[in-house]
Amino acid sequence: MSERKSVLSCIQPTGDMHLGNYFGAVKNWVDLQETYNCVYGVVDYHAMTMPYNVKKLRNNTWDLITNMVAVGIEPQNIFVQSLIPEHAELGWIFNCFCSYGQLTRMTQFKDKSSQVSESGKEAFISAGLLDYPVLQAADIMIYKADYVPVGKDQEQHLELTRDIAQRFNNQVGKEYFVLPEALYTEVPKVRSTADPSRKMSKSAGEKHYINVFAEESRIRKQIKSAVTDTGDSQSEGMSEGVENLFSLLKAAGGTDAYAHHMEQFSNGGLRYADLKHDVAEALVDLTAPFKEKKAELNANKKELKNQIKQSSWEIRKRAQQTVKEVKDLVGLLNVRF
Ligand code: TRP
Repeated sequence: MSERKSVLSCIQPTGDMHLGNYFGAVKNWVDLQETYNCVYGVVDYHAMTMPYNVKKLRNNTWDLITNMVAVGIEPQNIFVQSLIPEHAELGWIFNCFCSYGQLTRMTQFKDKSSQVSESGKEAFISAGLLDYPVLQAADIMIYKADYVPVGKDQEQHLELTRDIAQRFNNQVGKEYFVLPEALYTEVPKVRSTADPSRKMSKSAGEKHYINVFAEESRIRKQIKSAVTDTGDSQSEGMSEGVENLFSLLKAAGGTDAYAHHMEQFSNGGLRYADLKHDVAEALVDLTAPFKEKKAELNANKKELKNQIKQSSWEIRKRAQQTVKEVKDLVGLLNVRF
């Protein structure tokens, strides 16, 4: 058991889990549990970095946990970031091993801060948004994770994490932290069904994403109305919309149907209605057990809450150990009260 390498990843509690989140990340997390020691965090401190609804955050956190367990993440592998305040503590220490200039140059900071300024509302860019990647570095290093499964968009944050760990090691004169590696796995690009030129996301509105726990009828309806071609010719190669349907079909495990429709496509005889029918079928089959499991979990919320409290406590012990060692190394007091 202890021979296993460790994996850590985290996700922000921001509402519904859609097929893009599932196929793009969470499904991979489920599979990694077979090979690695995994911990997965629901990072509610990170969710505070952008303007957010204080009344919804806590529910979103529990919803996300329920969704994660419903699709196959083991409850004992899940922690809630704010239940482990050592993340923030290590984050503070890491602030002092990270340059201000590097933070201002992060792409995600630039993107998100311009989103806030362009939103027309009161432009409030929090210091937390600038500091976001430092807390992320703490999330990773506090468990000394070997691998971090993330999307390409997180590459820069991983680089920063390695820089911080490296600078820390140099300053304390010891190879204390082992530099973590990103684990990029091939994941399908899931696009919006209403506008396949953009990726599936919640921010574009309800027509654009399919909730993993959506009713069967809704899944069918949404796939039926998915945008395929804007023109009418298949001769110019595959359109993004059709490609998206194929990706969904494959990701959902409809391998035979996938091969069949691909062949039809090559012959110029692909029928969109048939393809859509099979995509919807595959998605319905895939998600039915998730919905069932979610209903079970919701019928016994207390039990799940207790499990997560327990798992966060177990995981916290590791975080406490790291912070204790780090405080020793950087010259902070380490007394027991
Ligand atoms: N920034 C990540 C995202 O938006 C979320 C995250 C926070 C994370 N802490 C992390 C991912 C630690 C991996 C490891 O997707």
